[in-house]
Amino acid sequence: MTNTSRGCTIWFTGLSGAGKSTITEHLVPLLKARGSKIEVLDGDVVRTNLSKGLGFSKEDRDTNIRRIGFVCHLLSRNGVVAIAAAISPYKAIRNENRALIKDFVEVYVKVSLETCIKRDVKGLYKKALAGEIKEFTGVSDPYEPPENPEVICETEKETPIESAQKIVRKLEELGYLIPLAPVGSDGKYAAPEQLTALAA
Ligand SMILES: Nc1ncnc2c1ncn2[C@@H]1O[C@H](COP(=O)(O)OP(=O)(O)OP(=O)(O)O)[C@@H](O)[C@H]1O
Ligand SMILES: [Mg+2]
Repeated sequence: MTNTSRGCTIWFTGLSGAGKSTITEHLVPLLKARGSKIEVLDGDVVRTNLSKGLGFSKEDRDTNIRRIGFVCHLLSRNGVVAIAAAISPYKAIRNENRALIKDFVEVYVKVSLETCIKRDVKGLYKKALAGEIKEFTGVSDPYEPPENPEVICETEKETPIESAQKIVRKLEELGYLIPLAPVGSDGKYAAPEQLTALAA
């Protein structure tokens, strides 16, 4: 299949349990359907290899995010759509990566802390709130939301597939992805249902 995308980095940021990995799972097939070359750098996976041994101090978190950023830089300059799905709580390091990578699409996965605590996918909030885990983002460690993200996914209001489609549209808008359906005289893109059907 023709590759209809050009390299870029989709940089997710958001609290643990916000939905970064879940949206990524829905986004990957949509991009694959376009023939994009994709690589996912998921925070949990990266910490078992590339960043093995790093902890959660500010310094270690920054090192982790810089490493992910460096790999995304190498990938995106070679035509790959690199997807980084890590909390990346600090604005300054995200912006460092933005400056390095340039083709950088920041996706803020926005959700309230209360919802994350309710979801508690990994059971970590319970432990953090009980003081069993130190330096837990949103509980005992800072999270700095982005000021001007390219996309905001509100996972309390939209489904994961809607969030993924929103990102696809933004990639089209920014010229990283060729729109599937020709843009009509009304300037509208293909309906989300069409995109989903084509990706299935
Ligand atoms: N609209 C939504 N978008 C994404 N996830 C949602 C949505 N609604 C509910 N969820 C649920 O929220 C949880 C999000 O967990 P997920 O592991 O994707 O978060 P994460 O941001 O990757 O967290 P972590 O930083 O800990 O890896 C999942 O259980 C998912 O099913
Ligand atoms: Mg995750």
